Amino acid sequence: MGGDHVFLRACRREATEYTPVWLMRQAGRYMEEYREIRRKVGFLDLCKSPDLAAEVTLLPVRKLGVDAAIIFGDILLPLEGMGIGLEFAKGGKPLIRNPIRGKTDIERLRPIEPDEHVPFFLKTIEIVRRELEGRVPLIGFSGAPFTLASYLIEGGHSTDYSKTKGLMLGAPSLWRLLMEKLTEVTIRYLRAQVHRGAQSLQLFDSWVGCLSPWDYEAHVLPYSRRVIQEVEEKVPLIHFSVGTSGFLHLIKEAGGDVIGIDWRTDLGGTWERLGYDVGIQGNLDPSVLLASRGVIEAHVRKILESAGNRPGHIFNLGHGILPETPVENAIFLVETVHRLSKR
Ligand code: CP3
Repeated sequence: MGGDHVFLRACRREATEYTPVWLMRQAGRYMEEYREIRRKVGFLDLCKSPDLAAEVTLLPVRKLGVDAAIIFGDILLPLEGMGIGLEFAKGGKPLIRNPIRGKTDIERLRPIEPDEHVPFFLKTIEIVRRELEGRVPLIGFSGAPFTLASYLIEGGHSTDYSKTKGLMLGAPSLWRLLMEKLTEVTIRYLRAQVHRGAQSLQLFDSWVGCLSPWDYEAHVLPYSRRVIQEVEEKVPLIHFSVGTSGFLHLIKEAGGDVIGIDWRTDLGGTWERLGYDVGIQGNLDPSVLLASRGVIEAHVRKILESAGNRPGHIFNLGHGILPETPVENAIFLVETVHRLSKR
């Protein structure tokens, strides 16, 4: 069921009747139904309530007609199982209560047992698969080791990642130990999701664009590559990052069937440089959804033209949907991608 769906075929770079589309953060605060649920339940509690999380996962499938569902949760959920105190402050911003400061903190981190530490996430996958009845495929996900490390070290979001880079460049053996632990956690987390029914995976390396190409290659690429190689379950994997236009060839080298790109690069030229032996996902600027229908349509047209009808393009935003996005515009976007890409 779902094996021949247009999204999975596009991941395999097979011809499709239209370009599949889904949106990062497609279940979220821009939807009234989501805000209604969040008035009653905190974000972490929502993630840990499989029935509610499943309902939220399905909202955009019903409402927008997207071509894939992504399991509702967060990349930071597995960190709790490692012994990290996690909170989401008002406004949804993540906060680590006990950020990593040195050797003993890193040594203390435990690998996770997904069945024991994230049972709610796996249960949500089961419920969603059942409810979807094969209508669209389900995407599982994980943060990549670097992006997870950056939260552990900075304690939250950062603008310069100076503490992360300080450890990476100043204490390479500690960095190695931390990255090895996070690599193991990511592998276990992704494998467990596939076993429970995830039909595709996205690896989010959201903040790796703060690095130079050579530091990415030396200190990050080997770990991301190991994750991708060792999740040997054969479902398509999307390797996503932001602000990496200068080293997308290294992102590709680390692996993935589909490379996710943001809006700071043109899709056609980027795909040509990367080579057509990978698929490509993106690359609409999320702010475009705040504009008029005419502007949205013009941007969709531009991206589709840039992709040139080549098999292997999955339409998406270049990063998560903005909370202030009018829901009608998200609906219009999906409808427009389908209409303009019909072959
Ligand atoms: O895409 C989806 O709809 C699936 C669910 C999902 C969420 N976060 C829901 C969420 C996924 C796949 C993520 C991944 C995630 N989480 C990433 C990688 C993607 C990216 O954006 O780069 C990162 C870096 C995180 C960490 C995180 N979680 C941040 C930075 C925030 C605050 C973001 C914000 O929009 O303010 C969160 C909270 C979060 N994760 C929310 C949602 C819907 C908002 C929480 C709320 O309801 O208040």
